[in-house]
Amino acid sequence: MPQPAIHPSILNADQAHLAAELERVRTADGLHVDIMDNHFVPNQFGGPSLVQAVLAHTSLPVDAHLMVTDADRWAPAYAEAGCAIVTSHLEATAAPFRLARQLRRLGAGVGFALRPATPLTAVEPLLTEIDLLLLMTVEPGFGGQSFLDPMLDKIAAARRLVGERGQELRIQIDGGVTEQTIVRAAEAGADVFVAGSAVYRADDAVAAIATLRERAAV
Ligand code: DX5
Ligand code: ZN
Repeated sequence: MPQPAIHPSILNADQAHLAAELERVRTADGLHVDIMDNHFVPNQFGGPSLVQAVLAHTSLPVDAHLMVTDADRWAPAYAEAGCAIVTSHLEATAAPFRLARQLRRLGAGVGFALRPATPLTAVEPLLTEIDLLLLMTVEPGFGGQSFLDPMLDKIAAARRLVGERGQELRIQIDGGVTEQTIVRAAEAGADVFVAGSAVYRADDAVAAIATLRERAAV
């Protein structure tokens, strides 16, 4: 398994001081930018212009997590904006094979995300087409929620599936990641960890990232 990667979510950052907030997490492995349309989830955040603003102030790779209805229509703009990976919810994508190939042509890596109650089997036919599988460990929409323990079995099943196929695919989890929950999620097989409040609510974000990375090295 590759080295664990920590991706702070800027949803939890002070939006009025974005450049300084990006500086605080400079030692992370990537940045996670949540996009919400007030339809797929009951909250609104972000857009391609936010991604452009973030990219102007960081050299970290950006992964966009699109919590939007009709991802087929909206996702390509995030590849064009310069995201390293564009992750769409499978529940909100009508033609995932077409979208995956379109994103790749635009030069972006491809991710698909599953809500907690969506079974892993839904994404199985797509595994050869993608770079990242995002398993939500909270109901998407808000930061600061508690990790859903029943997701540990799903993470383990995803790791088995990917291992059997000998794939490079990264398994990302998002929601409720703390110094405690990250250990169990890493043991189950996740290797990319989105951390919102665990990083941005810490006094020392660099130290919080280092601790999370250490705890995830299982
Ligand atoms: C929630 C978002 C997450 C959120 C995580 O729907 O997708 O990326 O920022 O926040 P924490 O780490 O606080 O659960
Ligand atoms: Zn997210």
